[in-house]
Amino acid sequence: MRILPPKRIFFRLMFSYLLVALSVLGVIAIIFINLMQKYFFSVEGFQLEGQGEKAASLLERPLLENDLSTVSRLAYTIAFSYDVYLWVIDSQGSVLAIAGGDPEELGLQVEMTEIAHVLAGNFITKQITGPDYNSLIHMTPIYEKTADEYAAGGGEEEKGQVIGALAICRPLGGVTMTISRLRWLVFYAAGGATVLALLLGYSLSRRMARPLEDMSQVALAVSRGDYRQRISYSSDDELGQLASTLNFAIEQVGATIEQQHRMVKLQQEFISDISHEFRAPLTSLQGFLELMRDGKCTPEESRYYLDIMYKDTLFLGRLVQDLLDLTKLESQGITLEKRRCHPETMLRHSLKHLYHTAAAKNIRISLQVHPDVPHIYADEMRLHQVVVNLVENAVRCSPAGSEITLTLQREGDGVLLKVADQGPGIPTADLPLIWNRFYKVDKARTRFATGTGLGLAIVKRIVELHGGRVGVESTPGQGAVFSVWLPHNAEA
Ligand SMILES: Nc1ncnc2c1ncn2[C@@H]1O[C@H](COP(=O)(O)OP(=O)(O)O)[C@@H](O)[C@H]1O
Ligand SMILES: [Mg+2]
Repeated sequence: MRILPPKRIFFRLMFSYLLVALSVLGVIAIIFINLMQKYFFSVEGFQLEGQGEKAASLLERPLLENDLSTVSRLAYTIAFSYDVYLWVIDSQGSVLAIAGGDPEELGLQVEMTEIAHVLAGNFITKQITGPDYNSLIHMTPIYEKTADEYAAGGGEEEKGQVIGALAICRPLGGVTMTISRLRWLVFYAAGGATVLALLLGYSLSRRMARPLEDMSQVALAVSRGDYRQRISYSSDDELGQLASTLNFAIEQVGATIEQQHRMVKLQQEFISDISHEFRAPLTSLQGFLELMRDGKCTPEESRYYLDIMYKDTLFLGRLVQDLLDLTKLESQGITLEKRRCHPETMLRHSLKHLYHTAAAKNIRISLQVHPDVPHIYADEMRLHQVVVNLVENAVRCSPAGSEITLTLQREGDGVLLKVADQGPGIPTADLPLIWNRFYKVDKARTRFATGTGLGLAIVKRIVELHGGRVGVESTPGQGAVFSVWLPHNAEA
């Protein structure tokens, strides 16, 4: 598996931040400067237009009277007071007066075609940008007004003939300077914003990249089989959510795998236990068979060996039967055939088979049933197995002539069965282990004297499948009391 170096995500994020910040800033700066430029120029142009108009109306009279000295005097005054360059052109297109600037420079800026255009009654406003000058020029025609208009004080409704043209020009040094200052200002602002974007982008990218780095570390550890690692990042954003989801998933997977390991271990233990239990009877069978094959024993010995061998096969049969039972009970798909039944009836039925075994050892079985024992829902065949196992154990462990007492009573929300004997009891240390399969207290005794060691494991499993509990109490030397509690209404 290839894992991107975490740094890459970080740099990608950083780069994206910077790109976004700079492009947004650039676009805003360009729009801003353009707007400002347009605004300044339109203000200037508007002003210049007004001034041109006023100048034209001032110059109209002397121009009409062909009073050239007044024209040039007025031109100077206007140029001086408006701080503009000015030139006055007659209707033939020749320059009558130039004021305020270098005629050469001005000549460069106005073309004959433009003069003709203005003399035809049009306005022209243009901006001239050169390497060392930058100016705005406005050209307006000068009209002859009617005598009535003079009397009325200069109305503009009706224009007369064009008698000349006026070009008025304002150098834009101030505006240009303001704009260039603005440009610098925007540039500085962009620089500051870039630094800010860098810092912000850095911290944000770092904050995003760190949990991702953390996650990839943990994922790597998990892929190596280490399920104890957790992502330490916690936050209520999407990354935090992802982290806690991943942690939950790791925990689940870890638990499942641990459980699988446990199961596999249990299975292995089970198999080795089984093999161990099979070995003793098989070894014994082999040994006796060898002796008999070689003809090294007397007929009496043969009969004696055959008897042991027969018991061995009986034991093996029981072992197989118990193993099959336990395996079935422990499988997931086991279903009990539960029916409504009365515990006392069931118990008396089971005991019928056991009185005989007990009588062989001169052991008495007594049954005490308390009056209000409720009915239960149970698999009768399985519960029969439980009773037989417990009573057979008690009979086996009891001395001849003793008594086994069974009591049946209501306890809490169910029924309690107790099987008490007068045998040797069970050492306190063994009490909790007694329910384990193959567990036998007295390991020295021959397999014929005890059972398979699976009986109590089967009992416990059956009772728990019914939703009940098993228990055992014992004072060594004074017998043991096994108890089974079953719920009254465990219908399911
Ligand atoms: N009533 C009892 N008194 C003393 N020990 C008992 C009694 N019942 C069971 N045990 C002990 O518990 C062990 C396990 O019982 P069980 O699982 O039924 O196996 P098994 O009967 O095949 O030996 C027995 O070997 C015996 O040591
Ligand atoms: Mg038993």
